[in-house]
Amino acid sequence: MSFDLVLFGGTGDLAWRKLMPALFQAFRHGSLPAGGRIIGVARDDLSDDQYRELIQSRFKAVDGAKRPTEEEFKAFASMLHYLRLDLSKLADYARLADMLKSRDADSIIMYVATAPALFTQTVEQIAVAGLNGPKTRVVLEKPLGHDLASNRAINEAVGKVLKENQVFRIDHYLGKPSVQNLFAMRFGNALFEPMWRREHIANIQITIAEDLGVEKRGAFYDQTGALRDMVQNHALQLVCAIAMEPPINAHADAIRDEKLKVLRSLKRWTPDSLGLHAVRGQYTAGTAYGERVPGYREEPGVDPDSRTETFVALRAEIENWRWAGVPIYIRTGKRLASRDARIEINFRPAPHAIFRTPAGVANKLVINLQPKDGLELHLLAQAQDQRVTTKAGVRGGMLPLAPVQLDLDFDKRFGTERVGAYERLLLDVIDGRLNLFVRSDEQEAAWHWVEPLIDSWGMDGGPRPYAAGTWGPSASSAMIARDGFAWGEEQ
Ligand code: BG6
Repeated sequence: MSFDLVLFGGTGDLAWRKLMPALFQAFRHGSLPAGGRIIGVARDDLSDDQYRELIQSRFKAVDGAKRPTEEEFKAFASMLHYLRLDLSKLADYARLADMLKSRDADSIIMYVATAPALFTQTVEQIAVAGLNGPKTRVVLEKPLGHDLASNRAINEAVGKVLKENQVFRIDHYLGKPSVQNLFAMRFGNALFEPMWRREHIANIQITIAEDLGVEKRGAFYDQTGALRDMVQNHALQLVCAIAMEPPINAHADAIRDEKLKVLRSLKRWTPDSLGLHAVRGQYTAGTAYGERVPGYREEPGVDPDSRTETFVALRAEIENWRWAGVPIYIRTGKRLASRDARIEINFRPAPHAIFRTPAGVANKLVINLQPKDGLELHLLAQAQDQRVTTKAGVRGGMLPLAPVQLDLDFDKRFGTERVGAYERLLLDVIDGRLNLFVRSDEQEAAWHWVEPLIDSWGMDGGPRPYAAGTWGPSASSAMIARDGFAWGEEQ
C-alpha cells in the first residue's frame, strides 16, 4: 500500500519533536510501507533539500540510539518532500492536489498539526481543492476547540466534507504502550474483572504529573491551561480505559461506544461540587532538579497577571451500577515533584481483621504509565523473620502483617525500545485503523463535562499558588482527605 502523508505545520514544533522522530523509528524498523512520501507543508520558502537539511539538523538534538546515522537519514530523507503553502490560499491547495495526483497513492493522509484556530479553514480548503475523496484520511491534533461550542463547530465543519471514518482525532495517550497494557490487563485477563467494581474498590486515583514547566510554549499554554491541555482529553481517556465495560469486540466503534457511555455517566457538576471537588493551581518559583526555576507568570510568553491554571485536581464519579459512589480523583500539573503518571486502584480493606495490620494499608493495584511502565500489586504478607519476632509482636499466635508488592516491569520484560505512542498511531492511520482515535461524540461528551469548570473558573478568585517542585496546592490533599483518603505518595 503506497501512501502520501501531508504534514500541515511541517516546520512546526510537533513535527520535529514528535512526528518526524516517530516516522523515522517506523522507517528504521521497516514498518513504514515502502515507497511512501512524507510531504511537509508550511509557509516558509524551502526546497526539498532545504527541508531535509532542516529536519536533519533537528535530529541532532535527539537522544543517542534514537538519532539516525548519516546513512539512515539519507535513506529516510528520500521519502521527505516539501511544499510551500499558505493555508488561506486556495491556489496553494491546487498545487498540493497536482502533487498528489502525480502519484495517485493508495491512501492520502492529511495531518493537521497547525494552530487549532486553523483546523476548520484547512479542512474546508482541502475539500474545495477536491482532496476529500474516499482515499483521504485527516488527522486532527488536540486541542480540538476551546470549549464545547467551538469543538462542535469544528466537528460540524469536518463532518460536512468528510465521513466520520475518515477522521482520526489523535490523543497520543491512547497510543502509549502502558495504556495498551491497561486494556490488555482488563480485557485479556479474567482475574480482575470480578473485583473491578464498587463492591471491592474504595477509590481510583489518576495522576499525570510533569516536572517540566511550560518550556517554550508559554503563549499557547496561557490560552489553554491544564484543564483543556490534559484533563479534557488525556485524563478523561484514561478514565474511560479504567471504567468502560468490556467491548463486544476490538473494533473501533465497539470500543468507542463503551468509552462514550463512561463520559456520559460522569456526574454533572453542581455549585457545591464545583467548590468542593475541583482545585486549580499555578506554580510559583521553586526548585526543580536542584535548581531554582521561575514561576509560571515569569515564563516567556505568559501574561504576568495570568489566571491560567497549571495544576488541576478533581473528584469525579461515574453514575452507573458498576461505579456508583466510587470517587475517581484526577490530578495533573506542570512543575510538580516528579515526572510520574500512574493509576492507583485502591481496594477496600479486609472486612474483619484477624491479623495486626498497619493502619490504613489495603490492597492496591498501581498501573505505572511513565516514566516506569508496569504493574504493582500491593499486598499484605507475613514478611517478618519469625526467628526475631518477640511475643509482643504476636496476637493470637499470628505474626503482624507488612506491606509487600508484586512488581511487573514491562520495560525490563519487553525492553524500552517498544513502539512509541506517535509511531503506533501514525502506523494505525496509514493502515486505516480507528480503534485508538477519538470519535466526535466522545469529544463532545468530554467537553460537556469540563465546561462548567471553565465557566466557574472564569468568575472565581483565580488559581491557588504552589511552589514549583511540590505536589500542587495543599487544597488538593484536603479535597481527597475529606473522603478519608490520601494521594498515593502520602499514604
Ligand atoms: C500534550 C500536552 O498533549 O501532552 C503537553 O499538550 C504535555 O502540555 C504532554 O506536556 C504530555 O505528554 P507525555 O507523553 O509527555 O506525558
